[in-house]
Amino acid sequence: MEDILQEIEAFGVEARDALDHVSSLEDVRRLKSLFVGRNGRISNLLARMRDLDPALRPKVGKMLNELKCLIEERCRELEERFESGAKGKGGMPIDITLPPRRFVSGTPHPVAIVMGEIVDVFVKMGFSVFEGPEIETEFYNFEALNTPKDHPARDMQATFYLSDKFLLRTHTSPVQIRVMKMMHPPIAMISPGRVYRRDTPDLTHSPQFHQVEGLLVDTNITFGDLKGVMGDFVRRTFGDSVRTRFRPSFFPFTEPSAELEISCVACGGSGCSVCKGSGWIEILGCGMVDPNVFEAVGYGIDTYTGFAFGMGVERIAMLKYGVNDIRLFYENDIRFLNQF
Ligand code: PHE
Repeated sequence: MEDILQEIEAFGVEARDALDHVSSLEDVRRLKSLFVGRNGRISNLLARMRDLDPALRPKVGKMLNELKCLIEERCRELEERFESGAKGKGGMPIDITLPPRRFVSGTPHPVAIVMGEIVDVFVKMGFSVFEGPEIETEFYNFEALNTPKDHPARDMQATFYLSDKFLLRTHTSPVQIRVMKMMHPPIAMISPGRVYRRDTPDLTHSPQFHQVEGLLVDTNITFGDLKGVMGDFVRRTFGDSVRTRFRPSFFPFTEPSAELEISCVACGGSGCSVCKGSGWIEILGCGMVDPNVFEAVGYGIDTYTGFAFGMGVERIAMLKYGVNDIRLFYENDIRFLNQF
């Protein structure tokens, strides 16, 4: 008696397995008739109930009926699937038994990762994030930033002009002006974004890259505050062992101006090809906001002082990750991008 129960169970397993491996409507129909058709396996098993102990019949009958329902339901599903969307390109049937293509998920772009980290450091210090337009006017990109008409950056060879009036911003500094025109000090803001310069691409230049700008304005802000904030930024970005130094520089919109240098992240300061033997690497420009800039936005120059800084995100990313060619960031080579 146990025999027929085992046989039914084994048949159930066999039927499910067979239906899991069909690849066409014909397969489904063939199996359906084989399993639940008039002369199919279920009918044959039902026919054998006559020889069973009457006490067992209800149980076996129930099992067979349930199995029949399951098989019929599964066949209906499969028939529907093959009959509906089962045609691929050019009417070719789709082989649903093929293994799926491996799912390749993307990863955040290294420039986006580093930009996010830089923004994070300043947000934790209390800076707010502002964004401005990539298409700017000469006023915001140059004039309000105290950049004279004859400055080389204003040349057609250096800047992408869209018309007499509009250009692609060459730095994120115009966002400082927009924020200062919009609100009163105290201001602590950063501005991440894309900038454009008419450069021929090479190892360290790209006509489009990213900057993070920063501005802090209040009463009694000194160069000491700038040094403190920059030092903190460097330690949080490159680690505690990195040293910093400021070298005099020039920007039309800051006075005095400086370049911030850090001890070489590749050799630790002893001199290598990355730092060109000097042991130091320049990472950003900064300085005290020039009074002419405050005047352009209507701030009282006797009341307020402030500092500003601006850095290239790609440059920071190259130093952090040891990337030696800026163009790698834009080539979309998945082998490069997958490493971050
Ligand atoms: N805007 C400057 C640049 O693009 C960087 C900078 C920003 C320098 C703010 C000083 C103050 O090179």
